[in-house]
Amino acid sequence: MNRLGAVVTKGVANIPWEGNPTPRIAEVTGGMLNAIGLQNPGIDVFCKRDIPFLKQYDTKIIVNVCGKTEKDYLEVVERLADESINMMEINISCPNVKEGGIAFGQNPKAIEQITSAVKKVAKQPVIMKLSPNVTDITEMARAAEAGGADVLSLINTLTGMKIDIHRRKFAIANKTGGMSGPAVKPIAVRMVYQVAQAVNVPIIGMGGIASADDAIEFILAGATAVSVGTANFMRPDTTIQVVDGIQAYMERYGVKDIKELVGAVNQ
Ligand SMILES: Cc1cc2nc3c(=O)[nH]c(=O)nc-3n(C[C@H](O)[C@H](O)[C@H](O)COP(=O)(O)O)c2cc1C
Repeated sequence: MNRLGAVVTKGVANIPWEGNPTPRIAEVTGGMLNAIGLQNPGIDVFCKRDIPFLKQYDTKIIVNVCGKTEKDYLEVVERLADESINMMEINISCPNVKEGGIAFGQNPKAIEQITSAVKKVAKQPVIMKLSPNVTDITEMARAAEAGGADVLSLINTLTGMKIDIHRRKFAIANKTGGMSGPAVKPIAVRMVYQVAQAVNVPIIGMGGIASADDAIEFILAGATAVSVGTANFMRPDTTIQVVDGIQAYMERYGVKDIKELVGAVNQ
């Protein structure tokens, strides 16, 4: 943890959420589906238990925030204002909950509205996390920027489905789940590139990163930082390999500052 730029937490809401019925994860070719449904202990337990745990490490803390209504989100953001966390990431892109989440993230007006509402109460920089389950992600990115987002992160998972043909049952109780892992990477890189052309705020890129090479693709496409989710299930040391591998790449190509690589794909 001490070697990581930051740790992004699981989503936290104003009150505890149980999440969806099980089964709620399934392996698929090149990745996984999940429909956890944002199970979390609620902001009280999170502040008492999880922030002190994370503070033991020399890394920045980014808290992922979820909610069903604007009021829910704002309650969490207000509670976090006086906590010693570094940034917050507003999840308006979860495909696995009926209310909130993606209901905000697929509508540019709603994105702009919730972003500016969060910015009014937040004391830390605000990252808006975008969904790939839209026709034009640049429209959503512009709306978040217009609402005052400090940073954008993308992508969240792509809605998918898996059926067990022998039981003739859905592999996931929720029927649909969010697809993540290596198979989504080309989509994520494309979206990061498009968003980088459309806005002026920094981008945190994610979606299928499992190696330094993957991370460097995102950076060349326009990401200022990257994050790793699903790959941790297979190799818990993936992030360290990414850090070491980026450094090795920079030495190999004589890159002195990582900033030289951001968006540096030849046009
Ligand atoms: C099991 C699981 C749980 C997730 N929970 C959250 C969450 O709480 N909040 C959120 O914004 N994204 C969540 N995500 C999405 C990831 O943060 C990430 O955006 C997505 O999986 C793509 O990156 P990856 O391929 O590296 O996993 C979750 C993904 C998985 C696989």
